[in-house]
Amino acid sequence: MTQGDATQLVQILIFGGRGDLARRKLVPAIASLARRPQGGAQLQVVGIGRSGMSDDAFRAWLRGFPQEGHAEAFDAIAPQVHYRSADVQDLASLAKLRAEVDALAGGAEVARLCYLALEPRLFASAVTLLSESGIVHRHRSEDRGYRRVIIEKPFGHDLASAHALNEAVQRVLNEHQVLRIDHYLGKETVQNLLGFRFHNAIFEPVWNRHHVELVQITVAETLGVEEGRAAYYDGTGALRDVLQNHMLQVLALVAMEPPASLDAEALRNQKVEVLRALRLPDPEEVARSSVRARYGPGAAQRGYLDEVGVAEDSTTETYVALRAEINNWRWRGVPFLLRHGKRLPKRFTEVQVQFRMPPLQLFNRPPDMSDAEFDRALHNGALCLIRPNVLTIGIQPRETIGLSFGVKQPGPEMIMAPAALAFDYRERFDDAPPDAYERLLQDAIAGDATLFLRSDEIEASWRYCDAVRTAWSEHGAVPLHEYPAGTWGPAAADELFRGCEGGWTRG
Ligand code: BG6
Repeated sequence: MTQGDATQLVQILIFGGRGDLARRKLVPAIASLARRPQGGAQLQVVGIGRSGMSDDAFRAWLRGFPQEGHAEAFDAIAPQVHYRSADVQDLASLAKLRAEVDALAGGAEVARLCYLALEPRLFASAVTLLSESGIVHRHRSEDRGYRRVIIEKPFGHDLASAHALNEAVQRVLNEHQVLRIDHYLGKETVQNLLGFRFHNAIFEPVWNRHHVELVQITVAETLGVEEGRAAYYDGTGALRDVLQNHMLQVLALVAMEPPASLDAEALRNQKVEVLRALRLPDPEEVARSSVRARYGPGAAQRGYLDEVGVAEDSTTETYVALRAEINNWRWRGVPFLLRHGKRLPKRFTEVQVQFRMPPLQLFNRPPDMSDAEFDRALHNGALCLIRPNVLTIGIQPRETIGLSFGVKQPGPEMIMAPAALAFDYRERFDDAPPDAYERLLQDAIAGDATLFLRSDEIEASWRYCDAVRTAWSEHGAVPLHEYPAGTWGPAAADELFRGCEGGWTRG
C-alpha cells in the first residue's frame, strides 16, 4: 500500500465532466472526501466536456444535484472546481487542455488523477492521447507529482476487447498508474467479506466443499433500464453489465484462498486464481446451467421492449441466472448460483452460504410419513420455515450478517424450530458507511490499488462470461424467457438448484 501525501495538491480531471456519473456520484464523493480530516490531500477538480461552459455555470449545475447535505459540502470545495472544454479524441485539443490545467493552482507539479467517465468505446484512444498530449506520462511509483488514470466499467465488452484495452493502456502507463474501478469493491460490506472470512477463524474449517452445499449470490434490482441508458444497456445485457464484474468480484472474495497479507498484489493474486478456476462451460453445459430472460409488461410498469431507445428486435437479457462451478481443491462440485435481474420485486444484494444438512434427520418427522415423503418434504423445505445452517451476508440495502439454525421448540415433543443470529451494521456502528465512490477515490489518491481490478482479473472474468454468451448467441440453445416486470423472474431458474435443497432467496 502506498501512502498519500497529505500536503500534496491533487488535481482530479473528470473526462465526461458533464455526465450523470460525474454529477451524481463523483463530485458528491469528492466533496464529502474533502470534508473528512483523513481525506488528506488538497483537492482540485476540473470537469472536462466537449461543450463550452464557464466555471460558474459548471459549479451551479453540480451544486444543484439533489442529495441531502450535498450543497453545503459542495460549497466548501466550489472555489477549487473548474470546467474546461476539450475533445478527448483530438490531440490538439488535449494539448491545449494540458496547458490550461498546468496553469491552474499547483502548476504542472500537481499530482494528477484522470477519471475516465466516458463512453467505453473511447477509453483506449483517450488513454493514448492523454499520454501523447503529456497530460499523463509513465513514471515510477515513488515519483512525486504522480499521474494516475481511473477507468470506469465496462472494461471491454469481451475478452478480446478487454485484452486490447489492457495493451493500449500498458503501452503508455505502468500498471500501478492504472486503476480499473468496480464500485462494488468500494462497498463496506463487500470489503467485510474479507474481514469476516479471514479474521474469524471459526468459519475457515467449514468453508469448503466438505461442508458447504451451495453458495448463492443475488443482485436484485427494482429499477428497469432508466431513461438515457438504453443505448448502452441494449447492446450489453445483464450478464455483461453486472455479472461479469460486480458479481464475479463478490464470488472471488467469497471463494478465494487466504492471502498472505492485505497487500494489493497478494490479494489480487488470490482473486485471479479463483476466477481462473471457474469451470468454462461448453454450449451443452451452458444450456443446462444458465437462464436468461427479459422483463415484459408488469402490473404497473412497461416491458423492456417498450423502454425508450430499445431496439424493436432486441434480444438483450435483463435477467441472468447461472450455476457456476469452481474447479479447485476447495470448491470442486459446489454450485455457485448467481442471479441478477432488473425489475424484480425488491432491491437487494446478498450472499448465502448454505451448509450441508446433517446426514440423518432425527427431528420434525411426522409419525405417519414414509421415508420417501420425508425426504421430499425436506428437499422442498416443507418441514422447516428457514433452512438451518445458512449464513446470509446482506450487502445492500441493509448491511447484515445472519446465521440460521434450529432450536428445540418448548414443549413435550422434540420439535425443531428455525432461529437465527443476526447482526446489523447500522445497529452496531453509528456512522453510515461512506459511499463506495468516496472510498475508492480516497484509495486512488493514496495510490492503494487493493480495491481496484488488475488486468488479469478482468480478463479471467471475461473468459468465463464469453463462454456463456457465445453459447447463447451462436448456439441458440438457451431461450430468452420473459417475466412480468415486478416479479421474481422465470421459473426455469429454479431448476438450477438440481440436486441441492432450497430455492432462491427473496432477501
Ligand atoms: C452498474 C450497472 O454497474 O451497477 C447498473 O451498470 C446497475 O445497471 C448498478 O444498476 C448496480 O449498482 P448498485 O450499487 O446500485 O447495486
